[in-house]
Amino acid sequence: MASGQGRFTRQLYLASQSTRIIALDNYEQYLRIARERYGEAGHAPCIGNLYDLPFEDEAFDIVATRSTIDIMDGPRMFREMVRVLKPGGWIYVSLVYDSTYKFAPGPDADLESRIQRAYNRNAIEWGVSYGIQAVNGSRAGRFLPLYAWDNGLTLVKLVAADWFLYPNPEFTAEEKAVLHLQLDMIYNACKSAQEPEYAIEASQLDEWYMRVKSEIDSNRTTYTSRQFSLLAEKPRT
Ligand SMILES: C[S@@+](CC[C@H](N)C(=O)[O-])C[C@H]1O[C@@H](n2cnc3c(N)ncnc32)[C@H](O)[C@@H]1O
Repeated sequence: MASGQGRFTRQLYLASQSTRIIALDNYEQYLRIARERYGEAGHAPCIGNLYDLPFEDEAFDIVATRSTIDIMDGPRMFREMVRVLKPGGWIYVSLVYDSTYKFAPGPDADLESRIQRAYNRNAIEWGVSYGIQAVNGSRAGRFLPLYAWDNGLTLVKLVAADWFLYPNPEFTAEEKAVLHLQLDMIYNACKSAQEPEYAIEASQLDEWYMRVKSEIDSNRTTYTSRQFSLLAEKPRT
């Protein structure tokens, strides 16, 4: 669900070798990019709204979504995913913790860890001011088990994974714009850190900001973020 530019669909295909994957998104251009990038091997693209999936009840063995439920109406999206899932089928949801965005270790690991600490200290406030709803430091991670239980599903596995490395060579202009936004959030959050233990010297912070900015533009940056995954089963009765 919400397959976007197809990276996750591609991983599902490589892992499962299933040729019966449907990749649904409501943005035609993304589905086209996915097709150009990976061809149609293994999946069928489908335009549709994840709040009103164009599928019968109990149609699928597995319903999976990555990096989307936290920016949508989570309960509504989850309910609709459960509707199209067969009894005995599995739901997989993974998402990124909002407040832990961090740029991967650069030449000055000590500075970066101080930046990360200062950012995390201030991230909730900054997230809110950027229109992101923060819930005790994450947007939706802690709600995933509740979504499962509210829909009568059984938890199979819940993983709060460690840092997730995103490869950079494929970043599109839109993704770079998101990275720039995140960089600005980190910079502004660190700049406004008041407590001495979180304070970072302005010139050091500025220098770091300019370096990462140019790394984003030249495709040299990777960023890491905390991932949260849920696997749940729909009961057979
Ligand atoms: C952050 S992207 C995640 C893409 C992909 N799952 C991945 O992990 O690479 C969110 C996706 O949700 C899609 N989307 C947003 N609202 C939607 C809706 N109502 N119905 C279907 N897709 C939607 C967007 O077009 C976008 O591709």
